[in-house]
Amino acid sequence: MYTHIAGIGSAVPSRILTNDDLSKMVDTSDEWIVSHTGIRQRHIVSPEDSAATLGCEAARRALSDAGVDPEELGGIIVTSTTPDYAVYPSTACVIQGMLGAKNASAFDLSAACPGFVYGLSVAHGMMQLDPRPMLVVSTEVMSRTIDWTDRNTCCLFGDGAGAAVLKNSEEPGGLGFHIIGADGTGARALYREGGVRTEETARNAPGALHMDGRAVFNFAVRSFCELVTKSFEHYGYTEKDYAWVVPHQANTRIIDAAVKRIDVPVGKFYVNIQNFANTSSASIPIALDEMQRNGVLKRGDRIILVAFGAGLVYGGITVEWTK
Ligand SMILES: CC(C)(COP(=O)(O)OP(=O)(O)OC[C@H]1O[C@@H](n2cnc3c(N)ncnc32)[C@H](O)[C@@H]1OP(=O)(O)O)[C@@H](O)C(=O)NCCC(=O)NCCS
Repeated sequence: MYTHIAGIGSAVPSRILTNDDLSKMVDTSDEWIVSHTGIRQRHIVSPEDSAATLGCEAARRALSDAGVDPEELGGIIVTSTTPDYAVYPSTACVIQGMLGAKNASAFDLSAACPGFVYGLSVAHGMMQLDPRPMLVVSTEVMSRTIDWTDRNTCCLFGDGAGAAVLKNSEEPGGLGFHIIGADGTGARALYREGGVRTEETARNAPGALHMDGRAVFNFAVRSFCELVTKSFEHYGYTEKDYAWVVPHQANTRIIDAAVKRIDVPVGKFYVNIQNFANTSSASIPIALDEMQRNGVLKRGDRIILVAFGAGLVYGGITVEWTK
């Protein structure tokens, strides 16, 4: 039995914040942001929306793309670093209720930016036990976690959601080799309080995200190269066997650094960070949806999804596109 991506969808807020807009808020410039990150603009959530509402919209589009009714779903996995509620209920439960997916289990999976890749891996495993379709939703409202006076971080992130519907079938293809991992010794390289780690953190509002940009950068390049190389080795393939590498959209400089270390031409990396900035776990499904809508992805294409982020965690998965 093979597990396929049968439907894909995304939803991004209509409000756009450009680098020039940002340069009126903090001491930065379009030139600095573009040259250091590749980002030109980001989408910002409206006051009425949240991770659940954006995620629900992306999910509806993915379900329609797959031709799957919400009641057919066996499970919903939501990945978000910006859930509607700090602990419970899970954003997956909120979305399950909004969709009317009354037969689906629902839980959130915490794996930061690689959440979508982790979500695909876990859903794939669950579908060996229960073959009903599953929904993976990655949805982020990063703008609500940012210190808008900190130029080091405020230019990097954006809001949006992406979703995939997975279906089992006898047809070869779909999800392939996957590798997920973590290095918890880097836990403080990228974090946001809000848990009950201490009396103080339990009682105070979470506050903004904190990041050691250089440490995250180095981890990202290292894990990026390892994930791509291991995916090649697993099948005995080279870059010629893959149509695309779709990386987590964090920074074009991370891709440039990886290209110097692995044998993949830069043109094979799909990049749309210029329009969306880093939307954390939503970045890969937003990219996949864009690729499908623009006819970039063709049936039979082999692609590799790679991601890294807070934890520190990493995840990669190969997919043969069968839509
Ligand atoms: C954040 C990042 C872009 C910074 O780039 P960098 O080349 O490492 O820059 P540095 O941290 O060395 O800072 C260089 C200078 O630029 C300044 N700077 C930082 N952000 C700036 C901005 N938006 N505009 C202008 N200057 C800025 C810094 O203050 C520093 O100035 P100083 O030397 O006077 O102190 C880079 O480290 C990075 O991309 N890291 C990974 C981040 C990431 O992807 N996180 C999410 C992973 S999921």
